[in-house]
Amino acid sequence: MRLGFIGAGFISTFHATALTMVRNVEVTAVLRRSRSPQFVEHCSSVGVGTPREYDSIAEVVRNCDVVAIYNPNFSRIETMKEIVAAVEAGATITGVVIEKPLGRTMKEARTLVDLAKRANLKTAYFENQIFMKAIAAQRDQLKPSIDAMGPPSLVRSAEEHGGPHANWFWDPVQLGGGVLMDMGCHSIAVGQHLLTPPGKPLSFLEPVAVSCDTSLLKWGESPWREQLLKERGIDYGKTPAEDFATGIITYRNPETGAIVKSQFTDSWMFEKQGLRLMMDGMGPGYAFEVNTLRSPTEIFIGDAAAESLADAELALEKSTATRGLLPVQANEADLYGYVDENRDMVERFSRGEDAMLNWEYGLEITRLLMAAYYSGEQGKVIDLTDPQIDEVLENYVPAIQKGEGNSVLKRGAKK
Ligand SMILES: NC(=O)c1ccc[n+]([C@@H]2O[C@H](COP(=O)([O-])OP(=O)(O)OC[C@H]3O[C@@H](n4cnc5c(N)ncnc54)[C@H](O)[C@@H]3O)[C@@H](O)[C@H]2O)c1
Repeated sequence: MRLGFIGAGFISTFHATALTMVRNVEVTAVLRRSRSPQFVEHCSSVGVGTPREYDSIAEVVRNCDVVAIYNPNFSRIETMKEIVAAVEAGATITGVVIEKPLGRTMKEARTLVDLAKRANLKTAYFENQIFMKAIAAQRDQLKPSIDAMGPPSLVRSAEEHGGPHANWFWDPVQLGGGVLMDMGCHSIAVGQHLLTPPGKPLSFLEPVAVSCDTSLLKWGESPWREQLLKERGIDYGKTPAEDFATGIITYRNPETGAIVKSQFTDSWMFEKQGLRLMMDGMGPGYAFEVNTLRSPTEIFIGDAAAESLADAELALEKSTATRGLLPVQANEADLYGYVDENRDMVERFSRGEDAMLNWEYGLEITRLLMAAYYSGEQGKVIDLTDPQIDEVLENYVPAIQKGEGNSVLKRGAKK
């Protein structure tokens, strides 16, 4: 399978590394942007192909079998329109892959789903945590207990780090919000997956209610606000986004009527060594826990040695420390699920199917995200069984995404 990349930044590089562990795939094309030469060099050095740089999306589409959309959230619709135009002009691709979040609103997500349908393309919505080997392993191990005792009733999932690596992520208009938009989609998706009884489809559980709190606890306050303005050009005093979000989604099992809950927590104000994904859950008589900051490998860098190091992101994604006792993850692309989501996509697209998670699934996650923002804004639990709510969510644009976060965000103690 020849893959063409739109986007040559952080996640593209991570996926190229992941592809070293996937068979029958090669990166052949990338859209030319400022960092595409480094991306080409990375692909070459890890052995997943030497992609050619093209000046237009149409040329990328003409030189691959599957297009991967890994550019920023605000550029997705235009990108997809150009892909569809190239297909309608005669290019023959099998499918399209998109990174989370599918869209910043229901309207955007639905437009993307419709465009893919119009061009008759198979789709993959990349939501890596569902593919984590640690998640799959605990589900396999617990299957006999789940079969005997019943499915989990409570799951908690969290993704936290100290803040994103590129300026556009910090801009609530470009990103579509703050940490809830950026990482809440992961925690919501994996929570739903973990609650779903093994063997049932991902859409088995019916979401019935969503509650959420969106707050700005760190980056709106001194000296962090000034640091953000200086380093990223974004003023969270004027156009803030949430750096902390937590909530609960209630689901109903349609076969048993049982009510089960998933709690999500996401932050950009996490003060530990680097990115931490944490999931735990329990059913009658059994439980599981996953924590990606635990590793069998640790290094220690004392003060004397640390003086010689700059801010190097060597040990972990979003590392915030260069000294002390640091966990090292030897294979992050595999740990976070990037390898297995790519493998699933390559295998299923090759069989002429959608990936396990397709864009319709991404649309459902967008709906839950929108309900979470709406709950944070309204300060109440959103009843997803109310048909009027669906109408509201279809046209809803969160105030934070409109640049009006000051009207809705709960703030840290100091002003
Ligand atoms: N699954 C995950 O864990 C994960 C992690 C990081 C990012 N992501 C997602 O991947 C996407 C990209 O994030 P990133 O961290 O790689 O961002 P990035 O800023 O590091 O890279 C973005 C890339 O897109 C290019 N680009 C910018 N504007 C463009 C445009 N208008 N048209 C075409 N290309 C454009 C840039 O030149 C760059 O190569 C985001 O949607 C993000 O949510 C997912």
